[in-house]
Amino acid sequence: MTADHPFPTSGRSADDLLSEIATLRSGDLDWRGGRAFSLVYDVDDPELESLLDAVGVMFLHENALNPFRYETLLKMETEVVAAAVDLFGAGCGTMSSGGTESIFLAVYTAREWARSRGITEPELLCAETAHPAFAKACHYLGVSMVRTPHGADGRAQPELMAEACSPRTAILVASTPCYPFGVIDDVTAIAAIARDRGVLCHVDACLGGWLLPWWERLGCAVPPWGFAVEGVTSMSADIHKYGYTFKGASTILYRDAELRQHQIFMYDDWPGGLYASSTAAGTRPGAPIAGAWAAIHHLGADGYLRLARRVLDATTRFRAGISSIDGLEITADPDMSLFEFGPSPDSGIDIGGVGDVMDRHGWNLDRQQGGLHLMVSPGHDRVVDKFCDDLASAVASHGASIGAAQTYGGVV
Ligand SMILES: Cc1ncc(COP(=O)(O)O)c(C=O)c1O
Repeated sequence: MTADHPFPTSGRSADDLLSEIATLRSGDLDWRGGRAFSLVYDVDDPELESLLDAVGVMFLHENALNPFRYETLLKMETEVVAAAVDLFGAGCGTMSSGGTESIFLAVYTAREWARSRGITEPELLCAETAHPAFAKACHYLGVSMVRTPHGADGRAQPELMAEACSPRTAILVASTPCYPFGVIDDVTAIAAIARDRGVLCHVDACLGGWLLPWWERLGCAVPPWGFAVEGVTSMSADIHKYGYTFKGASTILYRDAELRQHQIFMYDDWPGGLYASSTAAGTRPGAPIAGAWAAIHHLGADGYLRLARRVLDATTRFRAGISSIDGLEITADPDMSLFEFGPSPDSGIDIGGVGDVMDRHGWNLDRQQGGLHLMVSPGHDRVVDKFCDDLASAVASHGASIGAAQTYGGVV
């Protein structure tokens, strides 16, 4: 802590603190207004929001470290995992705190699985569009990461992945979809490579997992992506994204329990007794478990279908509106509700400058290497027209970019 922020010498009243927080928060991104993309999934459903608020507070202080001490949490977690297993046709699974932890667990499981087969220095093989959580997990876990270029359509190129396989390859990754372009990799081809070589195949459905099953039911053409594809051995799917609960809830699913066994850590050489844990955390907050349970049971299949329809319709309108603006184009042909858009060749548009104007209008768009990134939530259906109008005027009036960095995440 710096001298500017010394440790508080004396305590302050709750009222005083709440009033300071209210002032501070007035400058924060207003996700309820539909101007935030990707950081918060705005459902525009006051009843769900109040339910999540109430459930979050109810379980704020409880600890899921030992689920047998909190039987309500045990029941909720078991039912959340069972719902995910049913939705995805998986064999078994575990809840985790988010996509990064689910991916960490998949990589850890693959490493332990590989070691049990004598591969002492395992490699993970993915396209360069795979989420950085894979790079992070490989870095933490001492697994080598081999990346292959994506094609012009934004998708992994299975033939390049096949060529990049080595005797050390333990796991291949497919994204459904990848974050940068919203396209779904050819899971069938990637899983077939893994199956032929007798290795693992992980599907990163952190984004798509809780939306694609409903888009399929709405009749959308969704390429094969889940456990229905032979050779897929594990999947990450975040409930705190299109499952519409608050942050801290994801699932890691396996085709069979034997593989999941590698995820479990047991330690009995400690005076405190046997330590058994299947995720990275020790003490685990109860609220995200309860929130996920409440969201799933409040919405049910009909609620998820209703919200999926809103996301689909809003995505269609965003795509049409953006594509109709002279000089802009959508990168690749996204399979889901997120995509990048940028300048068409020879348009002379400085997309960073467009982003600056949009920032001034209060729209929070991520900046990528090739353009601006947009991720659609149900609540965005209220703002599509206003967004497209503002974007058109930003394109017409923008100047040179002030050079805001193309960043995703940040360090405090
Ligand atoms: C495709 C994909 N995988 C993994 C993650 C990581 O999820 P989290 O931010 O919950 O750790 C994200 C986050 O957006 C993602 O888009």
